[in-house]
Amino acid sequence: MKLLVTGGAGYVGSVCAAHLLEAGHEVVVLDDLSTGHRDAVPSGATFVEAELGAGADEVLGAGGFDGVLHFAARSLVGESVTEPEKYWSGNVVASFRLLEAIRRHAVPRLVFSSTAATYGEPDQVPIPESAPTRPTNPYGASKLAIDHMITSYATAHGLAATSLRYFNVAGAHVAGDTHLGERHTVETHLIPLVLQVASGTRESISIFGDDWPTPDGTCVRDYIHVDDLADAHLLALQHSTAGDHAVYNLGSGHGFSVLEVVETCRSVTGHPIPAVVAPRRAGDPAVLVAAGHRAAEQLGWKPSRTALARIVADAWEFARGR
Ligand code: UFG
Repeated sequence: MKLLVTGGAGYVGSVCAAHLLEAGHEVVVLDDLSTGHRDAVPSGATFVEAELGAGADEVLGAGGFDGVLHFAARSLVGESVTEPEKYWSGNVVASFRLLEAIRRHAVPRLVFSSTAATYGEPDQVPIPESAPTRPTNPYGASKLAIDHMITSYATAHGLAATSLRYFNVAGAHVAGDTHLGERHTVETHLIPLVLQVASGTRESISIFGDDWPTPDGTCVRDYIHVDDLADAHLLALQHSTAGDHAVYNLGSGHGFSVLEVVETCRSVTGHPIPAVVAPRRAGDPAVLVAAGHRAAEQLGWKPSRTALARIVADAWEFARGR
């Protein structure tokens, strides 16, 4: 297939672009490099540096595209609370313009990066796709708004659409000389922050609360290897149906606590990694774990890199090479 990958210079987008190329697809990456990195774009892809709305119309206008994988987004929960305008503009308005370009140029397929943050604080864990969507921050609300737009475009215009709701994406794509991983200017995610301590650029890791209603008192999350996530995108491209918008949770169905993550990082890196208990972070749910049956049953997706030690080892391999 000939595919447009928006945000293909970012963490998940670049890894998925690499998987698409390895599977023999033709890939055009569109990225404004506001948070992405030019050197993360896999060398087999055509790169277009442009803002999403206008850029997508121009790229798709060349014709012949079989699908779009839409990763480009702002994704900092805290920033979305203090500067929501960036999320309504950068996520919702830009995605609307992308959808209009898709419609105008009759592109048949879309795979969208949605998020567990669309559910907000869950009533039940593991979280099925049928759970109520009550996002607790503008980031999650912006992604949910895009999901709603996509449903209406699938129904009205026959788009074959898939939203993949990621839980906690982690790890790195380590294949020969290609090392693609998490490299945010503002890093907020647990595993890369812990690995910064192991590599000596941070003194200690703060544990945001040890009095949560969980077995060891720290928050539990469903960490999913970025290569497993990429596999799901390829399956979604194959299984989508015109006029239908399918939604899948992507997680392993197994949760690990913050303390388990820190302990695993200690054993993988051999570094003592000092940890300091800090106050709870606003907006953190205690436990987020995916009920992943739908992706297994309908896409045939089965994550295979689920061991936390494997996820951390790949992230560490990437971090050490930087
Ligand atoms: N944590 C710490 N210390 C840190 C950083 C994180 O204790 O320095 C804890 C958090 O409190 C949380 C866990 O580690 O319990 C994981 O935190 P991350 O920031 O790595 O990930 P989140 O679970 O907050 O965020 C993920 C996605 C978001 C998405 C959110 C949905 O990365 O994009 O799930 O709630 F919005």
